[in-house]
Amino acid sequence: MSNSIAHTKPFFDQREANALLAVIETRLVNEGDLANKLVRRTAQLSHSLGGVPTSTGTLGLHLALRTLGVDTKDDEVIIPDLACRSLYDCVKIAGGTPVFCDINLEDYSLSIDSVRPQLRKNTRAIILPHMYGCPAKIDEFLELEVPIIEDCAHALGTVYRGAPVGSFGSLSVFSLEGSKLIAAGEGGVVLANNPTMLHSLNTLRYGLDGHFAYHYRLSDLIASVALAQLDKLPLIIERRRHIANIYRNELKYLGNIGVLSLPNLFSERESVYYRFVVVCDTDSDDLISFANQKGVLIRNPLPSGCLSASYKGHATDNRNSRLLTTNGASLPTYPDLSDSDIEIVVDVIHSFYKSKRVI
Ligand SMILES: Cc1ncc(COP(=O)(O)O)c(C=O)c1O
Repeated sequence: MSNSIAHTKPFFDQREANALLAVIETRLVNEGDLANKLVRRTAQLSHSLGGVPTSTGTLGLHLALRTLGVDTKDDEVIIPDLACRSLYDCVKIAGGTPVFCDINLEDYSLSIDSVRPQLRKNTRAIILPHMYGCPAKIDEFLELEVPIIEDCAHALGTVYRGAPVGSFGSLSVFSLEGSKLIAAGEGGVVLANNPTMLHSLNTLRYGLDGHFAYHYRLSDLIASVALAQLDKLPLIIERRRHIANIYRNELKYLGNIGVLSLPNLFSERESVYYRFVVVCDTDSDDLISFANQKGVLIRNPLPSGCLSASYKGHATDNRNSRLLTTNGASLPTYPDLSDSDIEIVVDVIHSFYKSKRVI
């Protein structure tokens, strides 16, 4: 068994190094042409009007909320009970009130049935993540007539019913954090889908019309790496889908006997597999620690547990979120994972179930 198979890794080669070096040589390292080019290219890819760069995806979400006018406790924002904690934090930073809803077990994003009863006059926005790279069922949420912020942190390059994610919501947010499809260390992009929204976004980010500015700058050093990554996006997605296919074939039997649920396949929304998350029929801790001891870094999809349970006064009991937290396991999935590494991951999972006499 090889020493350690990482859970995630950025897909870098000489192209990122050259891009970075070129910026260093120009000495133009602040936010500038490259950050703007990154925004333009992300907007083209996502069929959006345009947008602004930000220092992180979290700050991008914050800027999106402020663009929608969220700034007092009365402003409620619907978020899933299971997602990155940034979703909660950005609502709090904006001064609004997060309203936790359950996830669905089809694609692990928000459950529409959990959202509907929570809608009020003062619901200002819904943050809808495309979890683990799978497009959420956006149509259902658009019908609610509440502004949608598409959280595309996991899903750059994914398509829903023929149109790219990021083209549906009032605003969309992307992340360049080191584990994401396009990894540049840190960074983000916020895009808008109508001229009024785009104007407000620019006003807040750059301090136009006498407004103060949110200085959430993105250095051209980072943008250069992100642009080099963007050139490789088709390859990145192809490789992630290839890995997912192998997992799907090799783990089919465990799926068929009901000990492991594999990610669903949908006809009009193909995942880019930011994560390949399986759900065990019991607590996943045993599988995770068995694999980790053998040097295969399978992880809990979200180690901090259900989001609401982590915050005083917010505890909810959302069944699906809890199930994914306790029983979920995220398998190593990144372009540099070789076919022989994938075999090792699969073998370790089979060894675990053999040790349990399940197979
Ligand atoms: C769904 C989701 N949204 C937003 C973020 C925040 O992005 P960033 O890490 O760039 O602040 C993350 C985590 O990285 C995330 O997983």
